[in-house]
Amino acid sequence: MKVNTTVNIGGLVLKNPVMTASGTFGYGLEFEEYVNLNKLGAIVVKGIALNPVKGNKPQRLVETPAGIMNAIGLQNVGVETFISEKLPLLKKYATPVIANIYGTDVDGYIKTAQRLNDSATAGVEINISCPNVKKGGLQFASDKEAVSTMIKEIKKVFTRPVIVKLSPNTGNIEEMAQVCEDNGADAVSLINTLVGLSINLKTRRPNIANVFGGLSGPAIKPVALAMVHKVSKKVKIPIIGIGGIMNTTDALEFLVAGASAVQIGTANFIDPSITGIIADGIKNYLEDNKIDSVTDITGTLEY
Ligand SMILES: Cc1cc2nc3c(=O)[nH]c(=O)nc-3n(C[C@H](O)[C@H](O)[C@H](O)COP(=O)(O)O)c2cc1C
Repeated sequence: MKVNTTVNIGGLVLKNPVMTASGTFGYGLEFEEYVNLNKLGAIVVKGIALNPVKGNKPQRLVETPAGIMNAIGLQNVGVETFISEKLPLLKKYATPVIANIYGTDVDGYIKTAQRLNDSATAGVEINISCPNVKKGGLQFASDKEAVSTMIKEIKKVFTRPVIVKLSPNTGNIEEMAQVCEDNGADAVSLINTLVGLSINLKTRRPNIANVFGGLSGPAIKPVALAMVHKVSKKVKIPIIGIGGIMNTTDALEFLVAGASAVQIGTANFIDPSITGIIADGIKNYLEDNKIDSVTDITGTLEY
């Protein structure tokens, strides 16, 4: 039986719904020897800003029960180096590259997207889980006005799909998804990490130099599934589900909850070939269950 694994994310057609989650797959190239990058629906690269950023001082990552916590501090090579040194090396793969972008003010986001428009980047994913320096560190994720402006302006300068990556940490995620749809976002992805704290009792110090970190992995899967499902009831644009996806079953659950595609994050640290395995697993599931198209699974949760 020939099954159809393609999905359409705001005009971007992917050969299957499996993407990498930003920050867990480097710039793609680091994983070349572990997974055939041609197998992936899309490669979402580490968050990119206008200028290079060194990130936080160590310790930046710690294991937690059923997950990890990180405070990398958005380390990145900057948009110019990404375009001149990283992107050309991914050209040999027939897999779209989506640039996850961030800034410390709205202007920074817009300029980064504008610069990427003249590159082979297939889409941008806007990470709004960042503090706005011009508003005293207020998270963009809880600032509907800033997010509206950002999307409208980025749509003017970036001509391919614009995905907004939502934060689980602030306010009402369904309302923010609605703001994204109303202002022209082509898709939303969710969730980013949940704020956490890990303590060393002996030293009574945090295990992460930044004190707080972002929790990811299996621990957050039920939270992510609930948010994906709630958002799917609110908006019509495609949803990309993220959070604790460790295997094919997890990925399929996100589709049932209402996602059109998924991103794999923390699982890459356990098995760097997991994205290819899940892509194959979804195809096998369709064949075994005689389901013509992966889109037939999206939003089929019954209750
Ligand atoms: C080490 C690390 C770095 C991350 N860096 C970024 C980033 O630069 N931009 C972003 O939007 N999300 C970043 N994330 C969040 C992931 O893309 C993802 O949303 C989150 O980890 C939840 O998915 P998971 O449970 O499958 O890991 C990072 C996560 C980890 C673990």
